[in-house]
Amino acid sequence: MNFPHDKNSNSPVIVITGGTQGLGRALAETLLQGGFRVSFCARSSVDVEAAKAALQSISPVVAVSGDINDDTVQTRLVDETVRAFGRIDGVVNNASTLGSLPLPVILQSSFENDRHVFATNVLAPLQLLRKAVPILTRQSRSLILGISSDAAAGGYPGWGIYGASKAALDLLHKTMAAELAADGVQVHSVDPGDMDTTMHHAADPGAQGLASPATVARALLPLFMPLLDSRSHPFATGTRLRVAGGVLEGADLA
Ligand SMILES: NC(=O)c1ccc[n+]([C@@H]2O[C@H](COP(=O)([O-])OP(=O)(O)OC[C@H]3O[C@@H](n4cnc5c(N)ncnc54)[C@H](OP(=O)(O)O)[C@@H]3O)[C@@H](O)[C@H]2O)c1
Repeated sequence: MNFPHDKNSNSPVIVITGGTQGLGRALAETLLQGGFRVSFCARSSVDVEAAKAALQSISPVVAVSGDINDDTVQTRLVDETVRAFGRIDGVVNNASTLGSLPLPVILQSSFENDRHVFATNVLAPLQLLRKAVPILTRQSRSLILGISSDAAAGGYPGWGIYGASKAALDLLHKTMAAELAADGVQVHSVDPGDMDTTMHHAADPGAQGLASPATVARALLPLFMPLLDSRSHPFATGTRLRVAGGVLEGADLA
């Protein structure tokens, strides 16, 4: 796949894991409409092709089918993005799993479930960053965003394995913020709040009053603005944010 014209563009390029539905898809749309370029992955090749066709109506995208746990998929996502667009400015670690459903209390979760949740929610995002950071640091300013959850700090019965994986993701992002600050890489994690998505309905069928992923995606957009014009935004990093009522809350990132 080649978009030679896009290689010459100065628009920042954002890699999103899990871009076919929910928050990842909404964020892809929001970023494309905001003048960013986007690449994404997801497991269902049918959904990847459908999302690609819809998103291409806004701007060319790079789409990779496969499981983010697969080392070759991580590599393809980075390599195909660089081949098409010539750069990567941001990575959003969004794809995630709840693990076994209904959510088991900790003592009833299987070792296999524990491993699968931590592999998908912690180790795969970490390994993707190991591959992407050498590309990110070619830019004077870049961004890593980890999508976390209130379950990371909640202690809610049944949410322990998933929540612990999100707490680990938070700490990895916070630590990388310190380790990569000198390279101009801003690293944040964000709790997006309860959203009207397949994942939320799988965990809590019948839940109501959920935020639309599009609203949450719009609230996240200010985090990406330093990539468009770094001079007008001070360098902020290592923050854990949350979206509530459609508003991004956290440290002052202005
Ligand atoms: N929804 C909520 O209320 C809520 C609350 C707090 C935090 N979060 C967090 O927000 C993020 C987005 O959640 P969501 O509700 O938008 O999820 P979603 O609607 O279920 O969408 C998940 C996306 O990720 C992809 N995906 C899932 N597992 C993958 C894998 N192993 N490899 C590659 N792609 C994968 C899915 O496509 P395929 O299935 O085809 O792979 C889909 O595109 C997650 O990190 C979640 O933990 C959500």
